[in-house]
Amino acid sequence: MDLELSQKTAFITGASGGIGQAIARQFFAEGANVIVHYNRNQASAEKLVAEFGEDRSLAVPADLKDEDAVSAAFATAGEKFGRVDILIANAGVWPPDHVPIHEMTAQQWQSTMDTNLKSVFLCCRQFIQQVAEHNIEDPAIVMIGSTAGVYGEAGHADYAATKSALISGLNLTLKNEIVRVASRGRVNVVSPGWVVTPMAQKFTDDGSSIRRALSTIALRKVASPDDIAHAVLFLSSTRVAGHISGQALTVSGGMEGRKLYDDDQLDVDSAIPD
Ligand SMILES: NC(=O)c1ccc[n+]([C@@H]2O[C@H](COP(=O)([O-])OP(=O)(O)OC[C@H]3O[C@@H](n4cnc5c(N)ncnc54)[C@H](OP(=O)(O)O)[C@@H]3O)[C@@H](O)[C@H]2O)c1
Repeated sequence: MDLELSQKTAFITGASGGIGQAIARQFFAEGANVIVHYNRNQASAEKLVAEFGEDRSLAVPADLKDEDAVSAAFATAGEKFGRVDILIANAGVWPPDHVPIHEMTAQQWQSTMDTNLKSVFLCCRQFIQQVAEHNIEDPAIVMIGSTAGVYGEAGHADYAATKSALISGLNLTLKNEIVRVASRGRVNVVSPGWVVTPMAQKFTDDGSSIRRALSTIALRKVASPDDIAHAVLFLSSTRVAGHISGQALTVSGGMEGRKLYDDDQLDVDSAIPD
């Protein structure tokens, strides 16, 4: 089926990373122009653009915590393709160390807020400003959340809090704001469970973590980046998702939540009241 993305320009943040790269490839295959955003990993972004060709793709750097860098990135995209129709707010960090909140520094908390949440605010603001400027009729935003924002994640309160904010507060507010600027504008979230990417390396290298996670997943498998990209493409397309807005689509193989304890940590006798 034609998703009718071929006349569109998609700005994909974090396209130098695992999931972003898969999203960029799928948009390109659908005929869209692709802005391949990166922060530090210029080589990865430029490799993708070399693969796509410069007619329909452009590598754009920005530390998305930085207001001026975000506006410069959108200006560069606008110079090349005229306008941006679709924003995929995918860039983010998952601090890999397990740090309970009573041991977390304020610096770590703030850094995760800035990278995962302030960056999305800045990108959405810039995107919607240029939607108004160019009178784009059916713009779409897809933000990448996480099951951490649905179930929480012990040892990662900072990360989980940023993802909940995208899934609920920002998603549900922006879907009502964007239509005041563009009558067919839509905002949605895709929330992955575990996905095989560099971000999840520490998890995928640890057999016991994988076993614990798989015990909560109906399909008993971890996602590939393409599994996430397919859901993003679907929600970006006015043709197939034109009446879907303010939704958070969880792509996690049927995850039920978290396994909190191993068998040897449970005492059945003391668990039942007399
Ligand atoms: N992998 C999973 O299991 C999983 C699960 C649930 C949700 N997610 C979410 O999926 C998204 C993509 O994750 P991934 O697995 O593809 O991770 P990844 O491979 O580590 O990629 C992360 C991307 O974010 C970019 N980035 C990081 N800090 C940035 C900053 N300050 N400014 C601009 N860009 C920045 C990186 O850019 P550079 O590399 O160029 O610096 C990179 O492109 C994230 O939002 C993540 O939270 C991932």
